[in-house]
Amino acid sequence: MSLSYEKVEQAAASVGPGPAPVLYLRDGAGVPCYLKTHYWWAYIHPRAVRLFERQWLTNLILWGNYGRLVDVIDVLPIQLDNLRRKLPPDAPVRLLRMDSTRLAVPDARYDRALVFFLLHEQPSYDRERTLGEVMRVVRPGGTIVIVDYARPRWWHPLRYLWRPLLAALEPFALDLWRRDVADLLPRARAIRHLRKQSYFGGLYQKVVATRGSGAV
Ligand SMILES: C[S@@+](CC[C@H](N)C(=O)[O-])C[C@H]1O[C@@H](n2cnc3c(N)ncnc32)[C@H](O)[C@@H]1O
Repeated sequence: MSLSYEKVEQAAASVGPGPAPVLYLRDGAGVPCYLKTHYWWAYIHPRAVRLFERQWLTNLILWGNYGRLVDVIDVLPIQLDNLRRKLPPDAPVRLLRMDSTRLAVPDARYDRALVFFLLHEQPSYDRERTLGEVMRVVRPGGTIVIVDYARPRWWHPLRYLWRPLLAALEPFALDLWRRDVADLLPRARAIRHLRKQSYFGGLYQKVVATRGSGAV
């Protein structure tokens, strides 16, 4: 997940914990158990970090936020260390180890949040909390961009090949086939504008929402 803003602000020295205590599964180091159980092969094992290396993605996200400051948030130190090695020393990026379900960040701090292929990894409770936190930390008028899997159209060959693979490897991902990400966002006055786009025959979705002035 990455969050960007235009002005440098001194982060509060001691930001309190999220709005509710963590009652769900994390280990002693704060690592979600869904990552340890289902994604050790993708994110936690050092060989996986090398295998899934994607420098172009880092460049794309940085370029898309050119001139802004970017905070990149991940709950796994190994992922942040890997990114740190790839960044130029003067990159206007802060790497913050945080849990997306309880961001230690004041309300309305950011102009924009990008949630990139995170939601499909999370069980529904964590997913909803992540979206609530993203809404909280983006200022009214700011933008929330979510990119993730979706259900391919009936004619898409991957619809039939991909389903058993996802079911085996990424057990929560199929939730995003059943329910639109846009439907998970709070509406009323919390969202001012929302645009959904679908790519590659529905395989991927992008939701761009403008934060309204209402409470989440
Ligand atoms: C699709 S990967 C992105 C991997 C890599 N950062 C990249 O962009 O190539 C999703 C990332 O979400 C992180 N993640 C999963 N649950 C999280 C949580 N609750 N809070 C913060 N990060 C989380 C994982 O550690 C993983 O690095």
